[in-house]
Amino acid sequence: MTTTPASKVLDRVLVLEMVRVTEAAAIGASTLIGRGDEKAADHAAVEAMRAALNELAMDGTVVIGEGERDEAPMLFIGEKVGSAQGTGPKIDIALDPLEGTTITAKAGPNALAVLAVAEEGNLLNAPDVYMDKLAVGPGYPDGIIDLAKSPTENVKAVAAAKGVEPDEIIVCVLDRPRHADLIAELRGLGCGVVLIGDGDVAGVIAVTNPETNIDLYMGQGGAPEGVLAAAALRCVGGQFNGRLVFRNEDERGRARKWGIDNLDKIYSRDELAKGDCIFAATGVTDGSLLKGVKRMKDGLITTNSVVMRASSGTVRWVSGEHRNKR
Ligand code: FBP
Repeated sequence: MTTTPASKVLDRVLVLEMVRVTEAAAIGASTLIGRGDEKAADHAAVEAMRAALNELAMDGTVVIGEGERDEAPMLFIGEKVGSAQGTGPKIDIALDPLEGTTITAKAGPNALAVLAVAEEGNLLNAPDVYMDKLAVGPGYPDGIIDLAKSPTENVKAVAAAKGVEPDEIIVCVLDRPRHADLIAELRGLGCGVVLIGDGDVAGVIAVTNPETNIDLYMGQGGAPEGVLAAAALRCVGGQFNGRLVFRNEDERGRARKWGIDNLDKIYSRDELAKGDCIFAATGVTDGSLLKGVKRMKDGLITTNSVVMRASSGTVRWVSGEHRNKR
């Protein structure tokens, strides 16, 4: 893994403080697990994350958030957060207070509260469009995956490097009708296809964890989630390619508005999240990365989180016990 110099700006943002922010969002959403109300769960997570971010002594700007100003009242793109506006470290924040609103509403697996922070200008200001994603875990030669190539070519390259046949490769894909051809192609090669209902940040990160057995992540999901996943892979290793997918002129316009001129560009992991960055996540429901929020007797709430930093490669697993919270 290439080394990334530590950012002095991020040094001033306590790494562990980031966990307090994702914990707050996860606890906020947890009362809505299984209640069938996606909007209420998202709203609870957003409110709690925003309040926690505003307690941090930083001059933060949301670069990936709940949407554009006219469509999201809180944590919209461009919103300033933090209690040290104009004086504190200038930090860009990509966030998803509840990654997996439907999962949470249905009490399914892998809902997370997530955020990534980096120095100003280091996270791609991705519009809320789809992104073609391709990811592989650490330990492979640079450039082993390439979104410009077919799924078959990518599976064969990874299989050869791993020293196995293509039919031993396991690929994680979002279970969507738009992926019918991709799934058929992978099954035609004999690959195992792990279909997930939602939550492709966890799906991408799964390639970095040998216990999941997942070698590759493929398919289209949200572009903001792609930047968050790339930031996580910056910290733990693994390769990521992403290409924005536009369905209409309005979406292309949104991208241009955020300074993206080459609409067909294939972004590498390090182009989506540059320099030093910190990624934090707290489980809302149980999943492959983290256990979810548990509400015990006598008001005790437990949380499980992970916080990682690109420059040090440190990964910290944090179990929280919270009392006097609701
Ligand atoms: P939400 O939490 O916003 O519902 O996102 C869940 C998710 O599954 C993401 O992980 C993924 O990137 C995106 O939705 C896929 O979008 P779609 O549901 O339109 O296929």
